[in-house]
Amino acid sequence: MSSKGNIVIGVTGGIAAYKALDIISRLKKESFNIDVIMTESASKFVTPLSFQTLSQNIVNCDMFTEPRAWEIKHISLAKKADLMLIAPATANIIGKVANGIADDLLSTTIMATQAKVIFAPAMNTNMYNNAIVQHNIGKLKDFGYEFIEPFSGRLACGDYGTGKLADVEKIVQVIQSILYDKKDLKGKKVLVTAGPTMAALDPVRYITNRSSGKMGYAIAEEARDRGAEVTLVCGNTYIKPPIGVESVYAKTNEDMLNVVLGNFNKQDIVVKAAAVADYKPKNYSDKKIKKSGNDLDLVLTQDNDILKKLGSIKTDQVLVGFAAESNDLLENAKKKLENKNLDFIVANDITAPDSGFASDNNRTTILCRDGRIIPMEKMPKRQVARKLFDLINAR
Ligand code: CTP
Repeated sequence: MSSKGNIVIGVTGGIAAYKALDIISRLKKESFNIDVIMTESASKFVTPLSFQTLSQNIVNCDMFTEPRAWEIKHISLAKKADLMLIAPATANIIGKVANGIADDLLSTTIMATQAKVIFAPAMNTNMYNNAIVQHNIGKLKDFGYEFIEPFSGRLACGDYGTGKLADVEKIVQVIQSILYDKKDLKGKKVLVTAGPTMAALDPVRYITNRSSGKMGYAIAEEARDRGAEVTLVCGNTYIKPPIGVESVYAKTNEDMLNVVLGNFNKQDIVVKAAAVADYKPKNYSDKKIKKSGNDLDLVLTQDNDILKKLGSIKTDQVLVGFAAESNDLLENAKKKLENKNLDFIVANDITAPDSGFASDNNRTTILCRDGRIIPMEKMPKRQVARKLFDLINAR
């Protein structure tokens, strides 16, 4: 697979250096090419061999090693980088760059590159809060360097406070967002609903459905990485919401209706991937229902069709629905597209064993308002999301 970009990762000497291995492993999985520069003290915490193995590239530690091919190391790495990440970034490297000191391979490369440089600091909380370090961070920010702030918790030295390297997933997400090749949703507001809703019978039991929320989450991530401001309305799902989007929980049909209606006017695009329950128990029992020895009849009453409501009030918003069908896929999806006044509907056959609910893949067909029908192979949900936004943007 071709590389999505060249990232030069600078690892400096802190206990969080081992977490840089995880960052590299995640970025390699996303098909980025990684070159690692280690400072001398970093190599005291983790061996260059570990970084070499994971990055599948020679690790650069010294400015003055014999060149393998004729190249000046810091200049060639500085030019090659689409982005530089310094993780963990110690007070020392921050201080050096902030004060124009270039005395080793990492500091010279940072100084020589024209790529975006991101620092992910990790250090003892007193060091991090030290006025000089904070001054240096402020100075670098003013020069356009970016920071992924450390978070608070128990530090390796036993102290509590801010100084822990930001979550690996967060670092990976920030990089992916920056290097994403399409930014065509910049300035747009996108609302996505995801996962199942639930309807309670009594304080203990509820009815719901098999939706996991993965499809909606993939749509929210795609919109985020393309530059949109994303609101993700999560139903009764337990998967961790993506970083960098505003997540709101709305577990019942009524809660979801209220959240979506409250936000609808300001949106440019609304994608309703949630599996909203059409029915709820007619009578909610505020006491736990006891067994009586007889059958229990459960009477359900129809609940709001949120998407239909949105279709009836929509102005300029692009409205996208999903159609989960077990039969007559295209006919049913087409009816929903028309009845709910949608611009697109993503139809999926929920009987396919290897795609659909809870799977990472989906086999879908996108129906457009203008009559086009676009069948798609089985593919990762993120790719379905990409295709959907390609179509929306091509309108
Ligand atoms: N939807 C909704 N409110 C409901 C039911 C569905 O907003 N009460 C939305 C879903 O989020 C989805 C689309 O409508 O985008 C179609 O959902 P689906 O469950 O496939 O269809 P229904 O309209 O519920 O019709 P049926 O269950 O009869 O197939």
